[in-house]
Amino acid sequence: MESDFLVIGSGIAGLSYALRCAELGSVVVVTKKKDIDTATNLAQGGIAVVLEAEDSYESHVKDTLESGAGLCDESVVRMVVEDGPARVADLVRMGVDFVRDEGSSSGYSLGMEGGHSCRRVAHANDLTGREIERALLNVVRNHKRIELMEEHMVVDLLMVAGGVPGWGEVDSGERCVGAYVLVDGQVEAYRAKLTAICSGGVGKVYLYTTNPDIATGDGIAMAFRAGAEIENMEFVQFHPTCLYHPEEKNFLISEAVRGEGGVLIGVDGVPFMKKYDSREDLATRDTVARAIDREMKETGEDCVFLDITHRDPVFVKKRFPTIYDRCLSRGIDITKQPIPVVPAAHYMCGGIRTDKYARTTVAGLMALGESACTGLHGGNRLASNSLLEAVVFANRAAVFCEKNWKELQNIDIPIIDLWKSGDAKELGEEILINHNWDSIRRVMWNYVGIVRSMKRLELAKKRMEFIYSEIEEHYQEYFVTPNMVELRNISLISLLIIQSALSRKESRGLHYVIDFPNKFKHSNATLFRRKGNRNSW
Ligand code: SIN
Repeated sequence: MESDFLVIGSGIAGLSYALRCAELGSVVVVTKKKDIDTATNLAQGGIAVVLEAEDSYESHVKDTLESGAGLCDESVVRMVVEDGPARVADLVRMGVDFVRDEGSSSGYSLGMEGGHSCRRVAHANDLTGREIERALLNVVRNHKRIELMEEHMVVDLLMVAGGVPGWGEVDSGERCVGAYVLVDGQVEAYRAKLTAICSGGVGKVYLYTTNPDIATGDGIAMAFRAGAEIENMEFVQFHPTCLYHPEEKNFLISEAVRGEGGVLIGVDGVPFMKKYDSREDLATRDTVARAIDREMKETGEDCVFLDITHRDPVFVKKRFPTIYDRCLSRGIDITKQPIPVVPAAHYMCGGIRTDKYARTTVAGLMALGESACTGLHGGNRLASNSLLEAVVFANRAAVFCEKNWKELQNIDIPIIDLWKSGDAKELGEEILINHNWDSIRRVMWNYVGIVRSMKRLELAKKRMEFIYSEIEEHYQEYFVTPNMVELRNISLISLLIIQSALSRKESRGLHYVIDFPNKFKHSNATLFRRKGNRNSW
């Protein structure tokens, strides 16, 4: 398979970028499950954007910087915030139906979320992601220059010697020309002039997560193996409120519920957030998640509760129809009872380091959305800034391609060697996969969670290094399968998170370590990069 652009992932970042690139050339989008199996599709809250006359770019920039705990790149924050309204207008043109409010200066109903100093979240009630995914897929599926391929799992990137016009200095001497893709048990080379990783986050590394099953960090892991710089992996955002119910795996209770007055209470019915932050329930996510963790540890209870029963039931059902229905199906009427909630892994603020055009440190390879670390989120992403980042950088990446298309379209894509299976055999025993999968997620949850200690991080490192080397051996010995690819990736991602956490000897944003409770005056990003054939830890 050969195309001008290879896009890995079918969420908001991948689809937005694909649509723009299709104006230039042929696009192949590969996605490892169904096209709607994305984190975008599950996003409830919305997209943060300055639309109201009373709001300002300055205010959105300030809120983002404060949440990011000193690690945002201010010029990126400014660029993203100021580009927001134009990109939201693009989404509307694509058919996204945000809820309107004729009484407001913007004409949109805007939600409130933690860390924002005013209402600025455009939404489609609590189904914003699904609405965006619906609209974009509708255009992509009917586009003559885009081929959307489901059940296509990327195994690794294709690397050859050379550079890419307009990429600037890269020191590896190699460029990316596509990816090896696993389709129906066969590994095939999907060659392209430019490749974009838009494959989402890493939530499945943890036992409890709000993420869909696809979130196994594939893009970040393969970029690392290809030599890309990986940044700030210690900053894993735990969403404070995931539904706590034995039959629910990853159902999010949107922060917008707190934005509309929802109050966190203990099992005794007493609100507790005022003990932790003057913004109370609308403090930033790092603070709220840590407060809940503390309350649960102190009381020994399995969860806390989110109470919205004081709001008009008609309003609650209209504003949160999905949350209302889902909770009711579990026997919880949220207009009458508080909702049992726990924090769960939600968003990777770090990822593949990019510049302002989404270019990674590997020529020919772009990264967008949750897989990327652009400098916007710093040490703690501000609520609803992720969909915004995805659309702004998809556009920036496309602008780079447009500007340089004259040279880029002449990039030659060499024929790539067939995938070699050597003496590989059938694995035969799925237990080898399942056991390690389970161990990784438990180690990460118990030792590398919301509150960390150096001792637990060291223990996690020892265990994960052992598991990682065992998986690498299996990977050489047996035929590659989707489960094997994912397991290999989550083990590498876990090690990247642990190593990054160990190297930050302070507490900042989402990284809280009891041995070093204070913040340094100045702090830098954490960077890891594979050297030759060796990991650089
Ligand atoms: C939410 O609705 O609480 C999630 C939105 C986000 O992660 O920004």
